[in-house]
Amino acid sequence: MSRLVVISNRVAVPKARGAAGAQGGLAGALNAALRKNGGIWFGWSGQETDSFTGAIDRQTSDDGVTTATIDLEHRDIEEYYNGYANSTLWPLFHYRTDLTEHERQFGKGYERVNELFASAVRPLIEPDDVVWVHDYHFMPLGDRLREKGVTNRLGFFLHIPWPPTNLLLSLPYHERLVRTLLQYDLIGFQNDTWLASFLHYCENELGASIDREKGSVELDGRTTIARAYPIGIDYDHFMAKGETGDARQAQQRLMSSVRHRTAMIGVDRLDYSKGLPERLDGIARFFDRHPERTKDLVFIQIAPPSREDIESYQNIRETLEAKAGQINGARSDVDRTPVRYVNKGYSQEELFGFYRACKIGLVTPLRDGMNLVAKEYVAAQDPDDPGVLILSRFAGAAQQMQDALLVNPHSPDDIAHHIRLALDMPLDERKARHEKLIVTVREDNVLRWTDNIIGDLEGLAR
Ligand code: F6P
Repeated sequence: MSRLVVISNRVAVPKARGAAGAQGGLAGALNAALRKNGGIWFGWSGQETDSFTGAIDRQTSDDGVTTATIDLEHRDIEEYYNGYANSTLWPLFHYRTDLTEHERQFGKGYERVNELFASAVRPLIEPDDVVWVHDYHFMPLGDRLREKGVTNRLGFFLHIPWPPTNLLLSLPYHERLVRTLLQYDLIGFQNDTWLASFLHYCENELGASIDREKGSVELDGRTTIARAYPIGIDYDHFMAKGETGDARQAQQRLMSSVRHRTAMIGVDRLDYSKGLPERLDGIARFFDRHPERTKDLVFIQIAPPSREDIESYQNIRETLEAKAGQINGARSDVDRTPVRYVNKGYSQEELFGFYRACKIGLVTPLRDGMNLVAKEYVAAQDPDDPGVLILSRFAGAAQQMQDALLVNPHSPDDIAHHIRLALDMPLDERKARHEKLIVTVREDNVLRWTDNIIGDLEGLAR
């Protein structure tokens, strides 16, 4: 088994408070991979420094995961993280051309930070290591490592969607970006849809030869493997959290506050891609159509703030505060509010308890690479009396989770209709759906995901 060098923008060891799901799936997944293979996890500390010295901070967590992080200068954070990664690539790759910013400085900052990361991590790479790079922050990193003489097997995994070719063409220098990506030996996507869009681009815009059976792209004499590897949750680890006193207390706390009412839950980073205003519109539509049921239902939305320096994120927060306020203003009574909107993160134990206490899980992103909250919600259910998952058909997870109630997250009517179906669903049907969903959640877990990708990388000739 090869040692791993994992590189991602965010490095998060388990002690950090906040759900793996709500933080993004990446943190939980990579901890699991490193616990198993050993190695090092390299990334940004999340801290700012006046002047980058090249200093690397190494730490080993209680679980034995070693991290190595660097601080970034203010201009780098602005242009690379807030800029190109989260104001250009993130919106574009989530099909939001209306929010995509094309600033020259952002692109330059992105290139500069990728170069800086390559130089900083280079000395940590040993000859037999498998190097595994994550996400849209680091598409050119493999190319920069090759320039520095790295001949190791290099893998890349994209945690977010890959956009249709017509959208990607709106990105200046799109061709350069995709060509650098092809310096990796293996590129993984969350599902077949994102993979198909990527292959379409390579074939039609770069003139690459594609072997769809093998999952390979050949360009200028170089072959790159491109396949779908749907990420899962760290199932056993998560289930163990459910056995703790904290999980049980959280479940009790929520149930006693809800009393006889049915609780629905949503857990998402506060991000415009998650479809939160549309979700609240769907709930308001349900209340409008069924006023007699308003007093029987409570919706809990947990939404830890995210990327707060970016205007589009500040805007979505204001929109949500206004919508939650409107719904509650019109429908609350002295002893009840239909929507509880909470801007903070919870531990995985607490989230397990909350999921279990809620008879409906609402996961309705407008576009999402995968979405692990959907999988965590299913895992946390009582198999003898499971809740119902309402899932956006535009979440990557929908491909594997066809037994959820699949909805169009843009349509308040569709969301309202499915809330009613979920509320009225007989126990037999809930159990039958849950029995099928739990199979993919349990079997297609994060350890299998890691093994598949690392196994494929190790199997490649060097
Ligand atoms: O899953 C996508 C992702 O961007 C991860 O790379 C990241 O860890 C997570 O969402 C949270 O975003 P951020 O690191 O910008 O807070």
